[in-house]
Amino acid sequence: MKIVIGCDHGGLEHKNAIAEHLKERGFEVVDCGIHEQKSVDYPDIAIKVCEKITSGECERGILVCGTGIGMSIAANKVKGIRAAACSEHFSAKFTRLHNNSNILCLGGRVIGVGTALELADLFVDTEFEGGRHQTRVDKIMAIEK
Ligand code: RB5
Repeated sequence: MKIVIGCDHGGLEHKNAIAEHLKERGFEVVDCGIHEQKSVDYPDIAIKVCEKITSGECERGILVCGTGIGMSIAANKVKGIRAAACSEHFSAKFTRLHNNSNILCLGGRVIGVGTALELADLFVDTEFEGGRHQTRVDKIMAIEK
């Protein structure tokens, strides 16, 4: 699975750790930056990551900002994106099982790096359940139209 990742200045350490961890696990990781600690506008990074998903180049994405919230708000404006801001394990797992989320948003100022790695693992390892949840996701996607 090819995974795209990106962050703003609130999530650089977490983003780098997740990218390394997923590469070590054998995933192909596309890193949309940032690559150094500097202040940036998180929507600019969110759009880059979303484009990798909507183009079909990558299957899932991970965005890290200070809270995970700004990234999720920005990403969810892009057609085809279902982004979930999560800070604990249950949500990271169930947003895959039930929402078929394609982007996980994390808060670098909310959770530690260890938790971020665990949530990233749950997000990439959990498959969508489909069934009644497909109907619900279809209704969400119909809102875009
Ligand atoms: C940047 O200071 C901060 O606003 C951003 O990282 C994020 O938390 C926004 O939601």
